[in-house]
Amino acid sequence: MKEQTFNYSRRSFIKKSAGAFAAFSILPNLVTRGAIADRVRVAHIGLGGMGNAHMEWFAAIKSADITALCDLDPDHLSSTGDKLKKLGKRRFREYTDFRSILDRKDIDAVTIATPDHWHGQIAIMAFESGKDVYGEKPLSYDIREGQLMLDSLEKNNRVFQLGTQIHAGDNYHRVAEIIKSGAIGKVHTVKLWKTGYSPGLGNPKIQPAPSYWDMWLGPAPEADYFPERCHFNYRYFMDYSGGVFADFWCHIADIVWWAIDPKGLSSVRSRGERTGEITDAPKWLECDMQFDGLTLQWTSTPPDVPGADKMGIGAWFEGDKGTLICDYNNREVTINGERMKDLPELKPFIERSPGHQQNFIDAVRSRKQPESELSYARRMTLPMHLALISWRLGRKLEWDSVKEEFLNDDEANELRSRPYRQKWNLINKI
Ligand SMILES: NC(=O)c1ccc[n+]([C@@H]2O[C@H](COP(=O)([O-])OP(=O)(O)OC[C@H]3O[C@@H](n4cnc5c(N)ncnc54)[C@H](O)[C@@H]3O)[C@@H](O)[C@H]2O)c1
Repeated sequence: MKEQTFNYSRRSFIKKSAGAFAAFSILPNLVTRGAIADRVRVAHIGLGGMGNAHMEWFAAIKSADITALCDLDPDHLSSTGDKLKKLGKRRFREYTDFRSILDRKDIDAVTIATPDHWHGQIAIMAFESGKDVYGEKPLSYDIREGQLMLDSLEKNNRVFQLGTQIHAGDNYHRVAEIIKSGAIGKVHTVKLWKTGYSPGLGNPKIQPAPSYWDMWLGPAPEADYFPERCHFNYRYFMDYSGGVFADFWCHIADIVWWAIDPKGLSSVRSRGERTGEITDAPKWLECDMQFDGLTLQWTSTPPDVPGADKMGIGAWFEGDKGTLICDYNNREVTINGERMKDLPELKPFIERSPGHQQNFIDAVRSRKQPESELSYARRMTLPMHLALISWRLGRKLEWDSVKEEFLNDDEANELRSRPYRQKWNLINKI
């Protein structure tokens, strides 16, 4: 089967795609479509573990109506439908092909909780069909898809929220306030970690594929079926995701990009062991990244800093006046040797979230972008892709953050995008 090749550079891409995907110069947080009706009609696409959480969250929102459910696996579709009915909701239809949902004019927004390799195309097609998107992390499968998503969002004046629900909690709001206030001074070092290894999953035998397998693979390369490659465990295969590292990067990098918004990424060096057996993601990964005035490290074990050994996932900020350590729900600031949970004298100055999903629904109605909007989500996700490319190639990479290309490294530049399987190249613009 002939695959399309893609020679990516942001400038040449915009030039080539001056039609449907041209980047419009509107500000992403100023969308122009007028506010829509009081109630937002939502469809959920992808109904595994996270899709069921979406369904339950949105079912509890008064200003949202779940109008449709979609999963290519009929068992997942019907079991989620049953749960929704038990919640007293009956005015929805069920689909196995998400394109039927995008065709419906009476749906305002979709949530996407498919495996990562489907995020980009479904979101872009949703934007093109006039729908807003609450899309799961990581934003996209590769660097190019993130750019295409941003271009399409801007062109179609859509609203997007990344599904990093921890963002909405009070702890991240407070950490962002403390660091933005300058209390720990200029941050020069950040250490991020997530414990736990990606598993190898043994050596299962190939099995007859279910009828949905070809669509499940979608834009990813053709592959034999065994259940361990499919639901949930896909995250340990590089064709669909990037292991524990890619599963958790966005959740904890989120607080770094919110608090200090690192700029000028210039180099990345990853080390790590491959899982082996049938999976091929990093079993563990360590990475050093250099930004303007900031060194950022990722490890699969807690770093040697006070309090890190008690946190399975965490962020350590080191500034010239103090330090701050946090996870999703806890934080500790240290200034002049004094350890504190909070700075009582610092008044809150960041508006609290009504809840990540409510924040999205409010944004759909107001046409003002929500907290984890797409350009922010893309800035925060991009270093994750670079770290995985460095790990795959086993070398340090130099990066031009303006041109978004690796310096003197064609092989690395090729990995900024993956050609789609022709049959499932649905956006067909490349
Ligand atoms: N925000 C969070 O805390 C969080 C937690 C877990 C997972 N996630 C993210 O949610 C996504 C899904 O993860 P999961 O653990 O629920 O995986 P999963 O395998 O349990 O569920 C994915 C579902 O998508 C369906 N699907 C696959 N391709 C589809 C398509 N083209 N159209 C319709 N349905 C399709 C599958 O049949 C499956 O039911 C991933 O991107 C993951 O990173 C986020």
